[in-house]
Amino acid sequence: KKDDVKPSIVPTEPSNLKEPKKPASTLTNDFGTPVADNQNSVTAGPRGPVLLQDHHLLEKLAHFNRERVPERVVHAKGSGAFGTFTVTRAIPELTVAKIFQKEGNQCRMLARFSTVAGEQGFADTVRDPRGFALKFYTEDGNWDMVGNNTPVFFIRDGSKFPDFIHSQKRHGATGRRSNTMQFDFWIHKKEAMHQVLYIFGDRGIPRSFRHMNGYSSHTYSLWNDKGERVYVKWHFHTQQGVQNLTEAEATEIAGKNPDYARMDLYDAIERGENPRWKVSIQVMTPEQAETYHIHPFDITKIWPHKDFPLMEVGEFELNENPKNFFTEIEQAAFEPSNMPRGFGASPDKMLQARIMSYADAHRYRIGANYGQLPVNMPVVPVHNYQQDGFLRYADAGGQPTYEPNSFGGPAADDSLKEPPLPLHGAADRFASYPETDEDYFGQPGALYRIMAPDEQQRVHGNYGRALAPVPKFIQDEYCAMLDKVDPRLGAGVREEIAKAKAEPEAGLEQILHELHTYAAGGDLKVSGELVGE
Ligand code: HEM
Repeated sequence: KKDDVKPSIVPTEPSNLKEPKKPASTLTNDFGTPVADNQNSVTAGPRGPVLLQDHHLLEKLAHFNRERVPERVVHAKGSGAFGTFTVTRAIPELTVAKIFQKEGNQCRMLARFSTVAGEQGFADTVRDPRGFALKFYTEDGNWDMVGNNTPVFFIRDGSKFPDFIHSQKRHGATGRRSNTMQFDFWIHKKEAMHQVLYIFGDRGIPRSFRHMNGYSSHTYSLWNDKGERVYVKWHFHTQQGVQNLTEAEATEIAGKNPDYARMDLYDAIERGENPRWKVSIQVMTPEQAETYHIHPFDITKIWPHKDFPLMEVGEFELNENPKNFFTEIEQAAFEPSNMPRGFGASPDKMLQARIMSYADAHRYRIGANYGQLPVNMPVVPVHNYQQDGFLRYADAGGQPTYEPNSFGGPAADDSLKEPPLPLHGAADRFASYPETDEDYFGQPGALYRIMAPDEQQRVHGNYGRALAPVPKFIQDEYCAMLDKVDPRLGAGVREEIAKAKAEPEAGLEQILHELHTYAAGGDLKVSGELVGE
């Protein structure tokens, strides 16, 4: 099913700000006392200075100074909505997770989509991966799937994440992003090639959050009541069709409506056009994982569908906008460590880093008791011995404050134990995945070759314009890597670098030309539609 609503970039106004209304309640201070005057501070005489006793003024200004919490260190700009997840195929043979025991089972969920490198006010239409974070409020506790709109990632060792992100964010002196820093990182980390090619392709700028797929990217696992484990990758296929913007379209939208994707998601749900995604898994047995020629836990690689076909297990629909953006989206805390019974990790070493990193980020960003905010609370009760801390709300009453105890406090139940995850090898720092899998360019080559010729041309142009301002030694090294992906790619990008250098404004002119055509009555073109992977 395709969504063919013509994209409008004109910002819309909130629907509750259309008709004038009388005040619905009397203004109060933070503790319920009615406020008689919210326009004039208490002064000493008509011309006098303000008195310290004007608590209303002090409360307002002091609270205002504390309105910001730190933004997410990555994925700062995002949007989200609540929805419903429905199981379309029960998989009790794979997992004990209650949600997957019966076809038709449902749970409420939350999705947050984001860009990665920019800050809160960044334009939505930049070339960047899109975050695809899902929280399922299941009866076994919260299951979070914190993925992206690409099936692979730039790096495969968590220790490189801060370096990678620093290279994508701002230069220490200029305070600006730098193509040189980005490509310098990428010539040193050849495993990034696959993901970078995705990003420089059409899918680097999705038309909206509704028009993109999501992926776990990582390998996770599922385990059943016999203690058997399988490895899985998760796929979320948009039912609106994958649609993308050209750089020209994205550039115009960034100027006219930087919150375009945020508007698109919210307004679509307000109109009742609830976006939907199909949920599928690829399954690999531990025996296959031992021998498969692609390293199964290397997040820079996909599992080809011909070897591991997609199995559809569910679908979700987003049908409820947040009532308050800050409390429900800004304070939403997604964490790959939220894996209820029946779900599990895999030996992917970068997933291990993420299992630590997110909950830690939430404790810093929101506070130790972030789990008690309604958006983060599970639908099942929480019973444990955590106590106190800033803004604690949960009340454990007079239960014992330690475990084990003799007085009926919550106790662990070893019948719920996860089956063991077999691991082998000596503890060491491994520079790479096994020799057989040091293929940085094979899968990017396949990706390049399934692109239509016009997309390949756009990839050359996108790379060329991005590489033009970068020092020559980095250009040369990067183009040599592109040659290994496909000689046509290397040659095409070299050509585009030369063009962009000869006419530094050529990219801009091309953009202006496209915009002219648009202004003259042409439709805003939606380009590069790709279906499936
Ligand atoms: C957000 C760390 C890799 C997807 C974040 C945040 C941190 C982080 C600290 C901010 C969390 C917050 O403040 O709420 C890391 C580390 C990684 C890594 C250390 C590698 C070791 C990945 C990968 C993906 C991903 C591979 C996707 C497959 C996301 C998404 C968000 C996010 C979607 C935003 C979640 C939201 O909407 O709140 N990451 N990340 N990250 N990350 Fe990662």
